[in-house]
Order: sequence, then structure tokens, then C-alpha cells
Amino acid sequence: MRKQIVAGNWKMNNDYVDSEQLVSKLREQYIESETEVIIAPPFTSLLCSSNLLKGSRINVAAQNMHYAENGAYTGEISAGMLKSIGVDTVILGHSERRAYFNETDALLAKKVNAALKNNMRIIFCFGEELSDRKSGNEEAIVEGQIKNALFHLPASAWTNIVLAYEPVWAIGTGETASPEQAQDMHAFIRKTIENKYSSALALDVSILYGGSVKPANAKEIFSKEDVDGGLIGGAALDVSQFTAIINAF
Ligand code: 13P
Repeated sequence: MRKQIVAGNWKMNNDYVDSEQLVSKLREQYIESETEVIIAPPFTSLLCSSNLLKGSRINVAAQNMHYAENGAYTGEISAGMLKSIGVDTVILGHSERRAYFNETDALLAKKVNAALKNNMRIIFCFGEELSDRKSGNEEAIVEGQIKNALFHLPASAWTNIVLAYEPVWAIGTGETASPEQAQDMHAFIRKTIENKYSSALALDVSILYGGSVKPANAKEIFSKEDVDGGLIGGAALDVSQFTAIINAF
């Protein structure tokens, strides 16, 4: 049975002190449920966040990593380094990394391989731009992003993959995909995986929706059959909004 997940991507927000405050408050206000909760703070706040969350059911993820194990890659962080502080989930392929840091499908495939080699779970993000949707190309774009970075993997690797559909036009804009648009795309994604692997595998993959999810729209989006949770940006920076979204399940 696939998991329901609500993950908060903090992006480049919250210094060490802000992070301690936010995490402590989250731990206090969070009500345990079947839904898995993940937060993805910046690298500098990963360790304090996981220490503060020890013994709770909230997990911590990194927002990025490099594909190499170590070496002359100034400014980068490897999977092994994340594992050494107990972080075993990583977000890869976020549209901001694709757009501002030139991350291509080919580079992402290397990062995916490195994460899996290190037994990490991946929250793999993808999604079309507004121009793709306007020209009716959204399914082709999404299919390409998934195929190019993930379809070289054996079926067994998929137990460590969570997908996150984030239409670029809905990120940070206040413009959410309608619940029907999200459902249509998620059903298409599941079908794409079924065609490549199997129906059983496709039914087991959690597919999250991301892009302006707020307490006011979360319930309706999460109620859709193929939407297994959310990847939350702005609203994850506010504990009462984030917990309201978690409770929307
Ligand atoms: P917003 O929720 O701020 O639109 O961000 C979504 C996102 O990019 C999560 O990764």
C-alpha cells in the first residue's frame, strides 16, 4: 500500500536559530497520524532538526546532493555526508534547481544513482512550465522528465522513490493546479509507470502534488484518488499552516 506523505521544502529559508524554533513548535503541535511527515531544511539546519525530532515520527530530508562520493567539488555535499548525520531522504530535480542551477535530466539520473547506491530515499520532482501547458505539451514534458532520470532503474529500486509533480506555473505563485488537473496528471504519471514496469509497482508509488498548497485547498487536492500527499513550500514555513495541511488528510 502506498504511503500518504506531506513534505515541507523550506528552500533557502530559516537560519539555525529560526530552524530550532520552527522545528520545536512543529514537534509540539504535530498530531501523529498515518500520514508521513517530512521536513527539508537547508543543509546548515539538518543536524539540529533531526536532533530535535529524535523519537518523533517526523523525518528530515535534504534538498539536494551531489552525485560523487567525495572529491574536488567545492561547495557540494555528498550522499555519504548526509547519511553520516542520519539523513536518508533527499529531494532531487526540483524545478528551481533545474532552472537556476542548470540541472538536466542526465545530471539528475547520476544523482538518482548515487542516492540509491547509498540506500537513500528520493523525492523526485518534475513538472511542466506554463508555456508547455498552454501548448498542450504537459504530459510529454512530464513523461520525458520521468523517463530520462528514472526509467533506467530496475523495478526493485522503486521502493525508494517518491514522485512529486510540481507544475512550475503553480510554484510560489498562489495559482494551484485545480484538483482535477492534479488528478489527471497523477493518473497519467501512474499509467506511464505501469506501462514501463507493472500495475503493482505503479500502485505502490506515492505521487505528491506541489505548487501553492495551502490549508484552504489541501483537503480537496488530497482527496483525489492518485494524489498521495503534498510537497509544500511557503506554507511549510508556518507551523500552523503546515500542521493544518498535514491534518487535511
Ligand atoms: P509553494 O508551496 O511555495 O508553491 O512551493 C512549492 C514547492 O516548490 C515545494 O517544493
